[in-house]
Amino acid sequence: MNYRKHLKNPIITEESDQRKGLPLPPMQKPYPEDAKLIDLVSPEDFKIGDVSLLKAIKNRVSCRKYSNESLTLEELSFLLWATQGVKELAREGRITLRTVPSGGAMHPFETYLLINRVDNITPSLYRYLAIEHKLLPITTEAKDLPEEINEICNKQTFVGKSAVVFIWSARPYRTEWRYGEDSLKDILMSVGHICQNLYLACEAINSGTCAIVAYQQDKLNEFIGVDGDNEISLYVAPVGKL
Ligand SMILES: Cc1cc2nc3c(=O)[nH]c(=O)nc-3n(C[C@H](O)[C@H](O)[C@H](O)COP(=O)(O)O)c2cc1C
Repeated sequence: MNYRKHLKNPIITEESDQRKGLPLPPMQKPYPEDAKLIDLVSPEDFKIGDVSLLKAIKNRVSCRKYSNESLTLEELSFLLWATQGVKELAREGRITLRTVPSGGAMHPFETYLLINRVDNITPSLYRYLAIEHKLLPITTEAKDLPEEINEICNKQTFVGKSAVVFIWSARPYRTEWRYGEDSLKDILMSVGHICQNLYLACEAINSGTCAIVAYQQDKLNEFIGVDGDNEISLYVAPVGKL
């Protein structure tokens, strides 16, 4: 028995929707026009993060123990910008160039946050709007979000004890539009870059994170309110101060 099938590049049999002339999908999931968005600290105003790259790479480690200290709004803004921040809108604003690479610049990801302890932000679920660099509050039925995320992550109880849990989802069509059958490897490789930037950015603000793939797929989809097909939860990373 082996499980290598998906590691091999497929033999392309069909043309991508891009080649067929279908329109480019939006680079960000839509949200209600009247939504009340929360401002973040702009990257031009960051006074944090100035740490030696050598030190950050050398010290990076998976961290599963966090203090009770909160993150500041500037720290959260910095982590969001480091992982998905938009640096430039290209091709008449239809393509985003970000702080991380992504195959064909398709950036097929959305970032959800379970905020437990961030200064001046009510603990709840949010989505990062990378283009606006703002937070979108998400209504949730869940009563005890930290407890639920622990259950979803197979009782890895350090997850719910963090200050904020990053949850990345993929909207696969953004990449499928361009690469068709080649998309799977592209999406999985691209999300790794995001999480590595989170590890390194944490090193710069006396915080730690841990990549998590051991979670229950359907429950995590439900937790962030996605259908598990057009949008699929992919990767979890709790962050806390050391
Ligand atoms: C894709 C991926 C999935 C992981 N999933 C988990 C996980 O579910 N739980 C956990 O505690 N650590 C998880 N880790 C962290 C690894 O256990 C960790 O990177 C490894 O033990 C090496 O330790 P280091 O990161 O401190 O160098 C994951 C790491 C990666 C890259």
